[in-house]
Amino acid sequence: MTVTRDGPSGDPTLFSLDGEDVEFRPGETILQAAHRAGRYIPHLCWHPEFRPHGSCRLCIVKVDGRAGAACTVQAAPGQEVESNSEQMNASRKTLLQMLFVEGNHFCPSCEKSGNCLLQATAYEMGMEGPHFEEFYPDRPVDASHPDILLDFNRCILCELCVRASRDVDGKNVFAIGGNGIGTHLLVNSESGKLVDTDMALSDRSASICPVGVILPKRRGFVIPIGERRYDVKSVAEPDNQEAS
Ligand code: SF4
Ligand code: FES
Repeated sequence: MTVTRDGPSGDPTLFSLDGEDVEFRPGETILQAAHRAGRYIPHLCWHPEFRPHGSCRLCIVKVDGRAGAACTVQAAPGQEVESNSEQMNASRKTLLQMLFVEGNHFCPSCEKSGNCLLQATAYEMGMEGPHFEEFYPDRPVDASHPDILLDFNRCILCELCVRASRDVDGKNVFAIGGNGIGTHLLVNSESGKLVDTDMALSDRSASICPVGVILPKRRGFVIPIGERRYDVKSVAEPDNQEAS
């Protein structure tokens, strides 16, 4: 015999997110259903075009009291999901602060400022400073490609570029190497330089980076700071939630 639970209002297609009903479709994760309903669950490595990766942990919610990544846990009828609470957002703020100190993020001089999902999420979570001591890692910049600049200092290892290059562009330009604190993004060419790959500016991987690593050349500050996507609208707004 199969035992099923009904949703909060007796409906088998509903779960509850922070006390409000959210409708889900068969096979959807909590984050997919919430996103479709215009409800904000903070996330960095998730993007609606790609399979979930579950690495950034920003989307951790409590499902019936147990912690789980909203981008990987399937929605089920009657689930009680807690996301937008003081406790959950405090954990997210700590994760964000760790991401900021682990790389070199100098927002005022970054071309991605105002379009950056990391920066926008940090604002949304009320992060006012890094809190932890900065690592200041020594990371390279690769300006070898005629049209694309890579600034590895800002990489948060979300692997969206890896997934986009492999699954959409069919090129495998990017990979992850090393382990632990030494984990880093690699360019898959003999020289390790982007110029020695077949990456093109029109590739999906060229526009997917949620932070300021993969940038088009000769377009810097075309849109002034203050007039950019997250400058004018919060990342929590229904139509402003995912990376480019
Ligand atoms: Fe993610 Fe950008 Fe780093 Fe690729 S370069 S892993 S898209 S942060
Ligand atoms: Fe779920 Fe990154 S968005 S773990």
